[in-house]
Amino acid sequence: MSDKNDITIPVHAIRRLQCSENVVVLTGAGISAESGIPTFRDAMTGLWENYRAEELATPEAFLRDRNMVWGWYEQRRREVMTKQPNIGHSALATLGKYINEVTVITQNVDDLHERAGSNRILHLHGNLFTPRCFDCDQLWNGMIDYQAAQSSNKELSPPICPHCHGFVRPGVVWFGEFLPEDIWRKAERAVKNCDLIIIVGTSGLVYPAAGLVAMANQDEKYIIQINPRETDHDKFADCVLRGSAGTILPKLISAAWA
Ligand code: OAD
Repeated sequence: MSDKNDITIPVHAIRRLQCSENVVVLTGAGISAESGIPTFRDAMTGLWENYRAEELATPEAFLRDRNMVWGWYEQRRREVMTKQPNIGHSALATLGKYINEVTVITQNVDDLHERAGSNRILHLHGNLFTPRCFDCDQLWNGMIDYQAAQSSNKELSPPICPHCHGFVRPGVVWFGEFLPEDIWRKAERAVKNCDLIIIVGTSGLVYPAAGLVAMANQDEKYIIQINPRETDHDKFADCVLRGSAGTILPKLISAAWA
């Protein structure tokens, strides 16, 4: 990884950011990496290294072993609750002070953008904090009794829906499922209407989320890519900043509005 201080922000990127009225930020697991939340595909910390996605993040997996799936997501939710937003999340939250409209379109299911103070947030893949009934889709806002599960050494099993007595599932989008239609439409509209899009911390491997960047490119939006590694999005970017979110985002914002 390059040294923190040797990254210079090109003047054209600074000027374009300064004169933008409407900015979209597309984020992935990489922006939460510096908060200590493992990404999906980074070899050393990959979330999937202990599991295969097919074992856990699908409706079939939940039907096959709901305790395993529910327990894994609960473990992730509780882990997120012990973490804090990092300087990258905070830098994005300050963008709203300088830009008329900032929309964060995230693939992440954590709540770190919210806790950092960003307010227009679209969770393309749902989130860990809005479980809902697997059968009737009603949101579930009950309390989970961890003590009971631990004291009886029982596995944590999903709660029962009070409306239809089905099992409650994590409020995330699983492989093979559609994205929430309203959220997707809002994300497309945000990209159509923006002047500039910043891509932060995503491998660009998962569609349709990754397709938003090609859409921005087709509409000749100014695209800034922030990632320590090369991804498919690099070819669309007007400016590639090779580094971590926690290093680059504060530099980008202070370069534009120091
Ligand atoms: P990935 O794990 O696929 O990619 C993480 C990206 O973040 C990689 O390109 C890393 O190089 C980059 N990265 C790592 N550390 C970083 C840092 N400190 N600052 C900036 N970038 C950093 O995660 P996503 O692209 O978010 O979908 O994965 C997209 C989707 O794949 C997830 O939402 C999930 C998964 O399947 C569902 O669960 C539906």
